[in-house]
Amino acid sequence: MACGFDVITIFPGMVRAYLGESIIKRAIQGGLLDVGVHNLRDFTKDRHRTTDDYPYGGGSGMVMKVEPLHEALSALRQDGTPRLTVLLTPQGRAYTQQTAERFAADERRIVLICGRYEGIDERARELLVDEELSIGDYVLTGGELASLVIIDSVARLLPGVLGDAESAREESFTWGILDYPHYTRPPEFLGRTVPDVLLSGNHRDIAQWRRREALRRTLQRRPDLLEKADLTVEDKRFLRELCSDRTKSSGEDTDESYKGY
Ligand SMILES: C[S@@+](CC[C@H](N)C(=O)[O-])C[C@H]1O[C@@H](n2cnc3c(N)ncnc32)[C@H](O)[C@@H]1O
Repeated sequence: MACGFDVITIFPGMVRAYLGESIIKRAIQGGLLDVGVHNLRDFTKDRHRTTDDYPYGGGSGMVMKVEPLHEALSALRQDGTPRLTVLLTPQGRAYTQQTAERFAADERRIVLICGRYEGIDERARELLVDEELSIGDYVLTGGELASLVIIDSVARLLPGVLGDAESAREESFTWGILDYPHYTRPPEFLGRTVPDVLLSGNHRDIAQWRRREALRRTLQRRPDLLEKADLTVEDKRFLRELCSDRTKSSGEDTDESYKGY
């Protein structure tokens, strides 16, 4: 069965434009992914197809009305398919690779509600939504990009969606750490050469180099990830070495980051 999403938006064209290209397009055509894009205006009952209104209490901006969202979700539920309803909001829990993995394994269809303006009426959040997610600590003009971020990151985890050339197996976050550096031809560019080990043909050495570079990079850029990463004894030994090298070169007496490994 295909992994399914329903996007509720007042800008369906924005969402469809992205779904109609590249890997996601192929996944949909191949029946691996199914995305229903629903125009919230189709669930309004007034002549102007109104989806927003002025905020009670005054102030700037508009608020998305609860009734069209309720109508849209009721219409979707008619087919009896189990669904998880997600609201995109900067106030939600952080969306991570773990959430993407959870959604990829979820048999329910995932409904993504895209807010606009100041967001949605609080009662819609309370009554209609199972989960609230944020894609980062910044504010977008609408939830469409956030929805697409979720669909894209989930789709690439589905079996058969990526070919070998686009493999998701060893990417950043898959093992709780960042990805290793990648190189392709030419072997030398503006004096920068490809590390010898990658040209050696020795698969064991290459795998070890990649793992170590991934660890080095994670320690440098995202040491917070190492606290939860799945590390082997060998990984920890390498990290201790890196940390003690750092301590020596900085001339410090102690190195706090050493203690974790
Ligand atoms: C301008 S924002 C509303 C922001 C809201 N007034 C607040 O401060 O929390 C409009 C819509 O964009 C979407 N959005 C904005 N930033 C987002 C983020 N970081 N993650 C997920 N959705 C976001 C949400 O659907 C939101 O309802």
